[in-house]
Amino acid sequence: MKINDTHYRSVWLADDGHTVEIFDQTKLPFEIQIIQLRTMKDAATAIKEMWVRGAPLIGAVAAYGMALAMRQESNDKNLQQAYDALVTTRPTAINLKWSLDRSYRALEHIKPSLREEIAYRIANEIADEDVELCRKIGEHGLKIIQKIAATKSVDETINILTHCNAGWLATVDWGTALAPVYMAHDAGIKVHVWVDETRPRNQGGLTAFELGSHGVPHTLIADNAGGHLMQHGKVDLCIVGTDRTTARGDVCNKVGTYLKALAAKANQVPFYVALPSPTLDFSVWDGVKEIPIEQRSGEEQSHVYGLTPEGGRSWVNTAPSGTTCGNYAFDVTPAELVTGLITERGFCNATEEGLRMLFPDLCGKPSS
Ligand code: MRU
Repeated sequence: MKINDTHYRSVWLADDGHTVEIFDQTKLPFEIQIIQLRTMKDAATAIKEMWVRGAPLIGAVAAYGMALAMRQESNDKNLQQAYDALVTTRPTAINLKWSLDRSYRALEHIKPSLREEIAYRIANEIADEDVELCRKIGEHGLKIIQKIAATKSVDETINILTHCNAGWLATVDWGTALAPVYMAHDAGIKVHVWVDETRPRNQGGLTAFELGSHGVPHTLIADNAGGHLMQHGKVDLCIVGTDRTTARGDVCNKVGTYLKALAAKANQVPFYVALPSPTLDFSVWDGVKEIPIEQRSGEEQSHVYGLTPEGGRSWVNTAPSGTTCGNYAFDVTPAELVTGLITERGFCNATEEGLRMLFPDLCGKPSS
């Protein structure tokens, strides 16, 4: 997608063909800073510190991390060490393990001298495939928005609520939840997005930045505003992304998603989840019991980052000194609260049967 009329992906290779470049997403939307990753450790740090974030993007960057590791030293020991270091960078999004497993499997039985080339090839494939998966999600999701548009007059706006950032910055391009929004906007449908701020890390700022760069009307709201807006008929549908979707259709996404799904159910607002298949984890059934929920530093809760009146950037402490802060990064929305799943293969119900029908080739196997 575009920033100031220039097309970007969220991860790409530099002109030298092996340095990996990303945006430092901790600086966005205030500063556009590109960071170069030259070692596997750089890639691991980028994921851990959330310079890159969003389930599909961390999967792609991890695959490039394997390539950087093989460039540094391609023996068996380093292959295993790179896998182990990268797979533990963040616990919740399954895309990370999915892409590392794919890379590891392709590399383990080949000669060390060939590993660097193959690892880059796999990482490029994962990145390109992600763009295509998200584009297809956009096409399928567009149909839902078109259906709602057909119930309204031409000048009426369709209001869509989203949580966190599931746009192109969270994937390699297009995004998951935002891909249908971009396509609807480009097709001339009047859409407006309610953007949840998404405390504690304010990923809503990334969503607002993306939508603004693409010219999509939007309003940034406090995380607690969604219920009120739904009660007053100001939300036509919710679309969110997911970090892991279980065999029965439970959805794990940024903390606060569950509350939005409850409010949507109570107010008969359709609640859709957009996901590429690498986000499916058929080895997990009950998302609430089985998915590890990342807990991050309390400082992300006590502090906010932003622009000072002088135009500088600063962290501000909003909690009384010494306050214990909890920072649960994700929550699980049970399948029964989800109206439908939007995947690259089309829609399905958030049920075991729905997922099995759409992904018969994937469901028998554990995701590892
Ligand atoms: O902690 P983050 O910013 O990595 O969390 C991101 C989300 O929760 C997204 O909604 C999810 O990864 C889906 S992105 C297409």
